[in-house]
Amino acid sequence: MTVAVTWPINEVAIKKLEAKHEVKLNKKEDNLTPDELKEFVKGADAILCLLTNKIDASVLDAAGPQLKVVASMSVGFDHIDLKACAERSVIVTNTPSVLDNAVAEHAIALMFGLSKALPAADRFVRAGKYEGWDPKLFVGPELTGKTLGIVGVGHIGSKVAHIAKKGLAMNILYTDIKRNEDLEDDYDAKYRELDDLLAESDVVSIHVPLLPTTKHLINLMRLKHMKETAFLINTSRGPVVDEAALVHALKEKIIAGAGIDVFEHEPKITPELLRLDNVIMTPHTASATKESRDAMANDAAENVLRVLAGKSPLHEVKAK
Ligand code: GLV
Repeated sequence: MTVAVTWPINEVAIKKLEAKHEVKLNKKEDNLTPDELKEFVKGADAILCLLTNKIDASVLDAAGPQLKVVASMSVGFDHIDLKACAERSVIVTNTPSVLDNAVAEHAIALMFGLSKALPAADRFVRAGKYEGWDPKLFVGPELTGKTLGIVGVGHIGSKVAHIAKKGLAMNILYTDIKRNEDLEDDYDAKYRELDDLLAESDVVSIHVPLLPTTKHLINLMRLKHMKETAFLINTSRGPVVDEAALVHALKEKIIAGAGIDVFEHEPKITPELLRLDNVIMTPHTASATKESRDAMANDAAENVLRVLAGKSPLHEVKAK
């Protein structure tokens, strides 16, 4: 069978696919345009894609009725039209769990980056401005013992709770569509409604998937619930936060700062964000560890192999 792989992912994963199937590989480290993607997937039994490939009905139809699986090398699945896949009996898979450490470490890194003003301090030293120890230089809040509000406690949110509780003795608040008793037992985490969590937390970290119900979950009204001294961290998906509202909140000092790895219209970035000092931005690299990316590629390939062999994939995403 034919597997269309839209990007040159790690070679071990490609070899694993080649051992059983014909692999059509896009060798350019460049995203295929929507038209190129449709042409590329023609006749494929499986598509192994990235989160930057929009897989909608037109792509599925371009592939043809033999298509059995769309395997994304990502935990997020908002780039795939799940309903269109279900209507065509195409199985959708993702790669959760293997990126928990990477993303949780990144969320914590953004928290430290803000509390210790790391980018500004680095720029200060490079600019030759350091003239000696100064008791008032870059004084920020300690994270230890503060309250962390986690929005969404799946695998990644729970890992953030683990590091924050075990490493920094932070008090953990969380919100989710259901209570998480393991988190409550393991980290003495307390459930809160979202608005209460925002009002009580010193740091808020978002770990929900992008769904119609989570788009603009954090809007201006919600930002106004947060403490003036609080930091907002987003390593989930850009549209979960209303970016215009975030810009306003940062400009008006409604909150103290934000650490964001994802953008509402990425790769486009609201220009005003670039001019603000109280935001740290990274280019959607939260899962970018060698360990995580290798495992994501491996799991995506394994998902393809399993579905093509008539077995259940490691992780299937179903339309609700
Ligand atoms: C990264 O954002 C992913 O969804 O894997």
